Order: sequence, then structure tokens, then C-alpha cells
Amino acid sequence: MNDTLKSIFGRRSVRKFTEQKVDDENLNIIVEAGLYAPNAGNRQTTAVLISRNGEINDKLGKINKKAFKGRISTTDSFISKDNPSIADDTTIESGFYGAPVVITLFGPKDFLYSVPDCWVMAENMALAAYSVGIGSCLIARAEDTFDTDIGQKIQNEAGVPPDFVARVHIALGYPKDGFKEAKERKRKDERILIVD
Ligand SMILES: Cc1cc2nc3c(=O)[nH]c(=O)nc-3n(C[C@H](O)[C@H](O)[C@H](O)COP(=O)(O)O)c2cc1C
Repeated sequence: MNDTLKSIFGRRSVRKFTEQKVDDENLNIIVEAGLYAPNAGNRQTTAVLISRNGEINDKLGKINKKAFKGRISTTDSFISKDNPSIADDTTIESGFYGAPVVITLFGPKDFLYSVPDCWVMAENMALAAYSVGIGSCLIARAEDTFDTDIGQKIQNEAGVPPDFVARVHIALGYPKDGFKEAKERKRKDERILIVD
């Protein structure tokens, strides 16, 4: 298997991080990998906000968790047993899982493709992170998280244009218990349909 495929098949969402900082060299390459993602019309509109500020990440992470209105896991239905999410373990206080770096991607409010642009970029970042030994988790509810007084203040102070909307967070850090095995996927014949 080549290195690209190894990253695609090996990546897992990581939700337990060590306190080790993500060094600039690796962070830069992860962000750069995001900038090279496909993007609609080659407009390259997505704005990347990198937060290494523990206090900010903690505050926004708690807001992000509060915004979660999804289903709480049961023993029969869970997201991850080895890397529990906020749906699996309600005692987790932050939707950002204490990650030392949280990147938020923003797109222009009135641009039809700002959501896919941001998420495609996020996946590039997750794969790049894995390839250099850094764990990641893509996190939703960025819109709710930044549509708050503190979110707007941070957006404004960081210089993200006011007509940009937060679309996705990427939590980054070194995995506390290493990388777990990739999750089993559903049977291919349930999901792949072919017309020849
Ligand atoms: C659109 C989308 C939204 C997601 N939102 C969250 C989230 O809010 N919190 C979280 O912990 N994981 C989130 N995830 C990660 C998924 O839970 C994870 O990718 C899925 O369980 C498969 O596990 P794996 O990434 O380890 O293969 C999200 C992933 C996607 C693609």
C-alpha cells in the first residue's frame, strides 16, 4: 500500500490528547495540506483560524458541547468505545476534547459551496496530521459555537471577516493512547451500487 492509502485507511478520529504541543513545522504542513484541498471554482475563499490558546479552546469547546442536540449513545449504539465522543460519554466537558490546537474553518456566508469547501479542507488536514503522527477529530456545530458573543469577539479580533461563517473545527494533538485500529466499515454490498 502506498503512503497516501496508508493514511486514508489508518486515520482514526482521536479524542484523547496528550499535553504535548504541536510543533510549528508539523502544524504548518497540516495547514498547508488544507490549502491544497480541492475547492469550488478555485476561489480559495476558506479562512483558517488556528487557536493554540487553551483558555479560548476550553471556552469554545464547552459551548460546542452544549450545542450538541444529537442522540446520546447506548450500549448498543455508540460512536467510539476506544475514543469516546461527547455522545458516548456525557462527562466529557468539551466538544474539543482538550486538544492543544483547534483549527476552525470559515467560509463566506453567501457562498453556496462554503460548507463543502471547509469540510474537504478539514479532511486534507486530518490525513496530513495522521501522516506525521498527529491525531485529529473533525467537529461539527462550528456555526453555533461561533454564533455567540465570545465566538464573535474571537472572530472579530482574529480578523476573520464578519460575513464569514464558521463551518468546521479540527481538533489536533498527539494521541494519548496511540492510534487505534480503523473502525470496521459496513458491508460494501450495502453501500456500493454499480451501473456498468
Ligand atoms: C460531518 C462530520 C461531523 C462530525 N462531528 C463530530 C463531532 O461533532 N464530534 C466528534 O467527536 N466527532 C465528530 N465527527 C467524527 C466522526 O464521529 C467519526 O469520523 C466517525 O465516528 C468515524 O470514525 P473514524 O473517524 O475514527 O473513522 C464528525 C465527522 C464528520 C464527517
